[in-house]
Amino acid sequence: MKAVELKNGIYWVGAIDWAVRDFHGYVTPRGTTYNNYLIMDKEVTLLDTVKHNFSDITIKNIRSVTEPSKIRHLVINHIENDHATSIDKIMELAPNATIYITEKGKKGLDRFFDTTKWKFRIVKTGDTLNIGKNTLLFIETPMLHWPDSMMTYLKEEKILISQDAFGQHLASAVRFDDEFITCASMSELENAVIDYYANILMPFGQLIKAKIADIQKLNLEIDMIAPDHGIIWRTNPQKVLQMYLDMAGGKADLSVSIIYDTMWHGTEQMTLPIMQGIKDEGVDCKVIKLRATPMSIAIKEFWRTRGALIGTPTLNNIMYPSIAEFLTHLRGLRPKNRIVGAFGSYGWGGGAVKEVYEEVKKMGLETHEQGLQILYKPSFEDEAKCYDFGREFAKKVKEYHKNF
Ligand code: FEO
Repeated sequence: MKAVELKNGIYWVGAIDWAVRDFHGYVTPRGTTYNNYLIMDKEVTLLDTVKHNFSDITIKNIRSVTEPSKIRHLVINHIENDHATSIDKIMELAPNATIYITEKGKKGLDRFFDTTKWKFRIVKTGDTLNIGKNTLLFIETPMLHWPDSMMTYLKEEKILISQDAFGQHLASAVRFDDEFITCASMSELENAVIDYYANILMPFGQLIKAKIADIQKLNLEIDMIAPDHGIIWRTNPQKVLQMYLDMAGGKADLSVSIIYDTMWHGTEQMTLPIMQGIKDEGVDCKVIKLRATPMSIAIKEFWRTRGALIGTPTLNNIMYPSIAEFLTHLRGLRPKNRIVGAFGSYGWGGGAVKEVYEEVKKMGLETHEQGLQILYKPSFEDEAKCYDFGREFAKKVKEYHKNF
């Protein structure tokens, strides 16, 4: 692998991580990339680094263009470990480089490294750096993804280096959206954007809307959006901006996800007639069994659909552990604008369905009550109740969807 040119003298020098499947607990079935960018100008500038175990790769990629010792400026848009843990290796090779970073970024970096010998310039929104033909404009984006985060806009070439925002956990042999669409598809790329947003950025929807509005107010022409993960948007960068605005505004498909787990298949047997009821109401439906599905995919499907039904058996009077794990993940992501119901089988006193509703209400989500509980396994009559439950839920989802 070697550097890939984005535009005149601006190169991707990152690393492809084909093998990562557990990204701090977030399952990444497609792997990921750690993108960083090198600008060959009068003053050579590197934007971001990569995860520590890929430092040799980015250094090799930099060397395919220039000697790392020539780096004069190192811009750190985000200090999370997947981007910042090669800084020490870069600074060993370019000890005279100045690091450009936000105030919170510097505070964080001081916790991860001995920074006493490094030169810093603290930057805030509106600050610029001229490096020859190119001018860099810094834009703080706190909580996108961490408090330290910022983006860097390359004025002359109209490229937005957006760090985590607009990225995807998607390892690929190609770097650009048009190339990816040719060898895979646009829907696969969109799916990766939704997956990433749902699992990482869902809690920050309001901030995202506000920050995109701020960027729009700056009247920046954007020819290309180059995130720190996945594919670079050069054909239609407005597409991913609009996707983010839509998701932050509560957009979802008029469809239902049934997310369930089961002990002796009683709850599982309930899913089929429920699904049929939903389908017969003209609403699309996807069934996801936890423990057979990565958590991040279940979260993505919950986020993609307007309505979700959570199916859980009662175990020792409470909900099934995998369902509790799912709801814990979901609560942390602070979902909005979704309607949820619950169902499940029980053997003695029940209780899991009630507990699911309590959890969902704590999240402030709309609920469809009453839920449906069935003793042991559904009889023929119970299956009819399941069908009606699915149908009623689909009607409610259709009504609720009109609000958006
Ligand atoms: Fe890709 Fe927030 O780090």
